Amino acid sequence: MIAKTAGRTAVVTGGASGIGRAIAERLAADGHRVAVLDLNPSGAAGYKADVTDRAQIDAALAEVRQDLGPVTILVNAAGRDGFKRFTKLSFEEWQRVVDVNLHGTFHCIQAALPDMLEAGWGRIVNISSSSTHSGQPFMAHYVAAKSGVNGLTKALALEFGPKGITVNAIPPSFIDTPMLRSAAERGLLGGTVEDHIERTPVRRVGLPEDIAAACSFFTSEEAGYVTGQILGVNGGRNT
Ligand SMILES: NC(=O)c1ccc[n+]([C@@H]2O[C@H](COP(=O)([O-])OP(=O)(O)OC[C@H]3O[C@@H](n4cnc5c(N)ncnc54)[C@H](O)[C@@H]3O)[C@@H](O)[C@H]2O)c1
Repeated sequence: MIAKTAGRTAVVTGGASGIGRAIAERLAADGHRVAVLDLNPSGAAGYKADVTDRAQIDAALAEVRQDLGPVTILVNAAGRDGFKRFTKLSFEEWQRVVDVNLHGTFHCIQAALPDMLEAGWGRIVNISSSSTHSGQPFMAHYVAAKSGVNGLTKALALEFGPKGITVNAIPPSFIDTPMLRSAAERGLLGGTVEDHIERTPVRRVGLPEDIAAACSFFTSEEAGYVTGQILGVNGGRNT
């Protein structure tokens, strides 16, 4: 029997919008105390921080610890996309996308780990992207950064498994969020949302709640034997 515990303190980066917001709501419904870290936080449990800025992350986590206790669940959902032909991609644009998606994940994990090590228990979930399975034209910086997130997930799973900390990733595909709608409006999807539904085996657009459900499993007590896994939640678009 796996013992149930009382709620834990969970931090969700990018939790003010889209997938992150659904994850924050789901973890709260699961009984955890949830803090949202975001550039533009909203609501009482919001902490303002830019994930690319280590000092801001350290300060926000210090506040979270004081308000809600040690952080033993971390979900890295803050992300930034980018669309540019590779020959036109400046190093600054490359760096900004790598900074938010990969370096931001590095900072948040390193800042939260001491609490997990102290507790001998932790759950880390990184939201990457299905473009790491398939590649994606005009998104070289984003695909490279998110592939780095998958690699980081696997390496840390091995390093921290002995400490009771699991590290997993969810690469979403085609999830109905402001990021997706903005890409569709800018004509960057390669067709409309409806065209994509026709190309999706389960014949619907994904919902942020689909990602939140997988995240709820990964962060649960019962998922303690599941680590280093990359779980596609994509309606069968990548198998
Ligand atoms: N929507 C999709 O289909 C899809 C597909 C693949 C991957 N993803 C990934 O899922 C995650 C969530 O995406 P979404 O679609 O919900 O996007 P979204 O734009 O709705 O939400 C992203 C959130 O991250 C926050 N954020 C951005 N940069 C930040 C920074 N530097 N510091 C702190 N917060 C920051 C934003 O303020 C926003 O609240 C992202 O990592 C994204 O790359 C989404």
